[in-house]
Amino acid sequence: MKLIKFLFLLSWIAVGLAHAQTNPYAERLSQAAKNGEELFGRNCQQCHNSRGKGGKAPQLVKGVWGPGGANSDAYMYQVITTGRPNTAMGSFKGSLSDDEIWQVISFLREEALRVKAAEAKNKDTYVPW
Ligand code: HEC
Repeated sequence: MKLIKFLFLLSWIAVGLAHAQTNPYAERLSQAAKNGEELFGRNCQQCHNSRGKGGKAPQLVKGVWGPGGANSDAYMYQVITTGRPNTAMGSFKGSLSDDEIWQVISFLREEALRVKAAEAKNKDTYVPW
């Protein structure tokens, strides 16, 4: 009987710990990025290339746009909503909702993390001799 009580207590602690370590926002974040990925494919890819890696238009996932880079989410939002006058970068204010623009930004930020992780991995396996 004591053993059963002990096991019950143990499983209760285990469940509690597992619960404490779940990020309640993780799912919502990646759902936003998933929607953003689709929106990016339909609205931005033709100029910024697949996954924002740059082509006819600048890349959006490295350097100043990379993790910890100088360009903030707010700045990205501003460029997307107002566009850049006298360039091919138009304003998306009319064609994407606020929510959709933030989803695109979430996608690009997540992609930037993936690009950085991939680069770090390549650096590890790089042998200079
Ligand atoms: C018709 C082509 C085209 C499309 C479509 C387009 N862009 Fe651009 N975008 C450009 C060009 C060209 C520039 C560079 C403008 C300049 O010279 O300042 C640019 C610049 C940007 C910049 C600033 C880059 C920097 O480093 O200064 C961001 C952010 C951006 N675009 C995001 C987007 C997003 C997000 C979408 C889709 C919602 C999108 N663009 C769709 C052509 C495009």
